[in-house]
Amino acid sequence: MTGQGRMKLWGGRFTKGTDAAVEHFHASIGFDWRLYEQDIRASQAHARMLAKCGIITPGEADAICTGLEGIAADIEAGKVEFSVSAEDIHMNIEQLLTERIGDVAKKLHTARSRNDQVATDTRLWCMAAIDELDARLRSMQSTLVRLAEAHRDVIMPGYTHLQRAQPVLFAHHLLAYFEMFQRDRQRLADCHRRTSVSPLGAGALAGVTQPIDRYATALELGFDEVAANSIDAVSDRDFVIELVADLALIMMHLSRLCEEVVLWASAEFGFIELDDAYSTGSSIMPQKKNPDVAELTRGKTGRVYGHLMGLLTVMKGLPLAYNKDMQEDKEALFDAVDTVLACLAAMEPMLATMRVREDKMRAATLDGYLNATDLADYLVRRGVPFRDAHAAAGRAVLHALREGKRLEELPFDVLQNLCGPVGGDVFTVLDVRRCVAARRSTGGTAPSAVEEGLARAKALLAQESP
Ligand code: ARG
Repeated sequence: MTGQGRMKLWGGRFTKGTDAAVEHFHASIGFDWRLYEQDIRASQAHARMLAKCGIITPGEADAICTGLEGIAADIEAGKVEFSVSAEDIHMNIEQLLTERIGDVAKKLHTARSRNDQVATDTRLWCMAAIDELDARLRSMQSTLVRLAEAHRDVIMPGYTHLQRAQPVLFAHHLLAYFEMFQRDRQRLADCHRRTSVSPLGAGALAGVTQPIDRYATALELGFDEVAANSIDAVSDRDFVIELVADLALIMMHLSRLCEEVVLWASAEFGFIELDDAYSTGSSIMPQKKNPDVAELTRGKTGRVYGHLMGLLTVMKGLPLAYNKDMQEDKEALFDAVDTVLACLAAMEPMLATMRVREDKMRAATLDGYLNATDLADYLVRRGVPFRDAHAAAGRAVLHALREGKRLEELPFDVLQNLCGPVGGDVFTVLDVRRCVAARRSTGGTAPSAVEEGLARAKALLAQESP
């Protein structure tokens, strides 16, 4: 990055150069260089549109587009040194273009402002980011489906209040996360729709005086619509906030999964063992194997939430239209997207390679009276009203607790005394695998229902858009 010194593109009404500290303070090139590809594409579309509308000549548009192509290639190759004095990516590229193709470059900014330019670039960047996020989430969903299929028969305790509640299929538990990520993908697709609106042609805020064609640039850049109001077009950062809000929800989902991985990997649960490649050791305790990937992802959730709150606060109270405050949107946006992509990239192989301890999961379903609801349901089938059946099964649990036994270990006559109308078939009903198989309601945990869940998941994965 080079420093101060050169005449500003906007320097006409100024008699002094910018203070050196201020120059660094307000420059955004240190981070908004990431918009270079979008900026160049948008400038090419703008130049071609200007020629089409007779505002510049086709020859001038060609010179501008070719010059921009060269700049794109050089930035890609790492050959360009950006200048802090040129402030941001928009003016850096315009300055480079002027150095390369001379005076014709000065026509590029006709009928345009940095205000509609930055809004356009940021929208295009968000649209590309959404596509990448969707692909990553989809891949994560596929991994969950593969895991669920590979462990079709594994039973584990389902929990409420982190207390053992009812037995479920491990596959069913995994598919719960599939559904969360499906909603995340739908939200992103929805956000994409509202982001795909071109601000280009709004000018500084009021529209422009030249006979431009806003639909031509929108079409070339892949926008679905043009913004209806020029003031809103340059003032709006809803699309950034909406995307980061969607990212906050994704992180919340990942964080819940991480918390479970951390619990499951503990000796207390022992449900999984993480692969060595996705765990870390302790500098002092030789025996340790820590689930750092899950912990760090859980931790990074706070950072994405923070960006959401930061963005909402930046925008709060800003008068229309553009204000320099809005330059603060980019670091938050970029970091939120980078963070989510990095977490997904680390979490997915960690899940794919973990060892599932079927024996430990199954053993955990045997203690804790996970079949108590099934005893109550059995009594209901024998004509007992559910509330009474609940009380009777509760008495059986209390008795079994005192005896240090499982429900199925109570003698038949004791069960009969405590619960009333039980038959010899009660012991079959208390078998945890039967408890799972009995929950055949749509979306339930019975193997047949989970097979339907898997089929639904695979059909959704095969679809073009979520
Ligand atoms: N770097 C600015 C931003 O990111 C670009 C727009 C600046 N426009 C202006 N008139 N200062 O928001």
